[in-house]
Amino acid sequence: MLTIGVLASGRGSNFQSIINSIDSGYLKAKIAVLITDNNDAYAIERAKNSGIESIVMRQKDFPDNDSYYTEISDELMKRGVELTILAGFMRVVGKTLIEKFRNRIMNIHPALLPSFPGLHGQKQALDYGVRLSGCTVHFVDEGVDTGPVIIQAAVPVYDADTEESLSERILEQEHRIFPYAIKLFSEGKMSVSGGRVIVESNKDDSVLINPPLK
Ligand code: GRF
Repeated sequence: MLTIGVLASGRGSNFQSIINSIDSGYLKAKIAVLITDNNDAYAIERAKNSGIESIVMRQKDFPDNDSYYTEISDELMKRGVELTILAGFMRVVGKTLIEKFRNRIMNIHPALLPSFPGLHGQKQALDYGVRLSGCTVHFVDEGVDTGPVIIQAAVPVYDADTEESLSERILEQEHRIFPYAIKLFSEGKMSVSGGRVIVESNKDDSVLINPPLK
């Protein structure tokens, strides 16, 4: 069974969607630990409710970025974590963690990458006037939202949208595709080749837009 570690900074609704997917039997995995950089993260409450250990580790308590991420990767490895999930972890992950978990850290971003990386992906999409946006699960590399794309879901953008209404429409898709991506990983159905993720499955996954979640 796949052992997961989750890093989150805030309300943790994606964290919850992963917990729910495990509880329902959709995802055969176990969450070994939640690591958060924020004492007040609601994600801590969610971990408690599900009997998941949580650890608060704040960057300002460490002398530098490298030691912070080395400590995080030590905590993950101590617990046998095979896949690290960034579920709203609001930091650029340091190289000491990325090197230990190359192509084994997944992030979810609220836009169709490579469009609108960084903060406020939903607002960037609205301001630009695109007609479609969505979300992307990708492996994390040293850049900001630049790693290999695993799966995406698209949603329409309406003229009447606000940042809140678009965020809500995208979030609904985030909660579908993140567990789906983890499930594909847990079943050994993906590999990374030349910066692309190849997904092997028994249906046509060459089009990964609003995928059926089987
Ligand atoms: C989501 O919009 C996600 O795409 C982004 O941060 C937000 C986290 O939300 N990376 P939540 O904490 O999972 O509710």
